[in-house]
Amino acid sequence: MRLCWLLFLVAAMATFHLTLGVRPSARDLRHCPTSCGDVDITYPFGIGTGCFRPGFELICNTTTKPPKLFFGNTTEILYQDTDVRYVMASVVFNIATTPGLLGTYNRSWQSPGRVLSTYNDYGDISQLVIVGCGIDVYLFDGDTNIVQGYCRSECTNLALKEKKLSGLPCNGIGCCTIDFLGGVRAFRFTITQRQETRSSITVGNATIKAFLCSNNPLEEFYFNTADLLSEKINASTIGATWSYFSVAITDQPNCSIAQLGLNKTHYACSKGSTCVDEENQRGYSCTCPADSFDYGNPYLLHGCKQGIPIQFVATENA
Ligand SMILES: *[C@@H]1O[C@H](CO)[C@@H](O)[C@H](O)[C@H]1NC(C)=O
Ligand SMILES: *[C@@H]1O[C@H](CO)[C@@H](O)[C@H](O)[C@H]1NC(C)=O
Ligand SMILES: *[C@@H]1O[C@H](CO)[C@@H](O)[C@H](O)[C@H]1NC(C)=O
Ligand SMILES: *[C@@H]1O[C@H](CO)[C@@H](O)[C@H](O)[C@H]1NC(C)=O
Ligand SMILES: *[C@@H]1O[C@H](CO)[C@@H](O)[C@H](O)[C@H]1NC(C)=O
Ligand SMILES: *[C@@H]1O[C@H](CO)[C@@H](O)[C@H](O)[C@H]1NC(C)=O
Ligand SMILES: *[C@@H]1O[C@H](CO)[C@@H](O)[C@H](O)[C@H]1NC(C)=O
Repeated sequence: MRLCWLLFLVAAMATFHLTLGVRPSARDLRHCPTSCGDVDITYPFGIGTGCFRPGFELICNTTTKPPKLFFGNTTEILYQDTDVRYVMASVVFNIATTPGLLGTYNRSWQSPGRVLSTYNDYGDISQLVIVGCGIDVYLFDGDTNIVQGYCRSECTNLALKEKKLSGLPCNGIGCCTIDFLGGVRAFRFTITQRQETRSSITVGNATIKAFLCSNNPLEEFYFNTADLLSEKINASTIGATWSYFSVAITDQPNCSIAQLGLNKTHYACSKGSTCVDEENQRGYSCTCPADSFDYGNPYLLHGCKQGIPIQFVATENA
């Protein structure tokens, strides 16, 4: 009798999860793709009906070899950690310029679903790297318009002209960087070309290249003259460019609102996980307890890897 009741509840909950897409179990997701090319896919991200939380839908583009995993049309996911704290993603801009003309170029990026933020936990700050000659760059928070920083790159350096520079940090010669002041969900930047005082390296029709990168010394970008001359950022020239992004649930402003009354049905954190407020009422994230080595996925029913006694199963959504 008791067993039937439990089974009924479990079945009802499964329907509930499927229709609302909140805290599904691993079983609910067993029809979902678990990877795209070399990249694992972890809920709340997913591909296909019933496989992702709203705002976290990914696209696997199989026309390339290996296939590439996209979030929106500008953000390529390269890695997702299994406890869903962050993703490593590539955001690049190849900006064609007109030779002989001094132009101004504006570009922007917005987090798909507004659920990613340029990562600045653990001391790894995201930075915008710009490869180009005779340029001034301003970076702005796309939501607040607050200036994140400025940099300038020149190509009048003799060693650069002789194409002898390689493996150098970006320091204003052919390349410069701007650190983000904090996590942002959207940014824009303006590149202004100016006449260089002395003749600079001949860059032909080379594009200005901009991309996000981690500022961790082990992971940051090192500049080669070839990067300046290449047409676009690709694996054989600049190499894989990527940055960390933190993941947040942004359909509610904070944990306490998300845990309240009606909103609770959309609450993303599974039992046994902890809700953590994002800065400035921008949402929340979930984490499994830190006392185990493998934290698990806090967005999945029973996702945290600690022994949850079976009698708590039926009460998860009560
Ligand atoms: C997949 O990538 C190719 C080549 O980059 C592109 O032409 C195509 O539009 C992409 N397809 C989707 C569904 O994004
Ligand atoms: C990218 O997606 C946005 C919103 O979905 C759309 O407005 C834009 O035109 C797309 N850009 C490209 C290059 O496909
Ligand atoms: C670029 O953006 C600035 C504002 O930040 C604006 O004044 C300027 O007209 C824009 N230029 C182009 C070419 O869109
Ligand atoms: C620049 O592009 C134009 C048109 O595509 C081409 O005719 C010209 O040869 C190119 N110049 C260089 C230096 O690559
Ligand atoms: C990468 O860029 C170089 C230089 O522009 C080019 O020769 C090469 O074909 C590119 N590779 C890919 C995979 O696009
Ligand atoms: C959560 O958000 C609500 C509504 O915006 C606000 O009134 C409340 O103070 C916030 N709580 C915390 C702990 O930030
Ligand atoms: C609950 O969610 C709705 C819609 O997302 C929102 O308008 C409301 O402010 C939230 N908070 C409460 C306490 O209902």
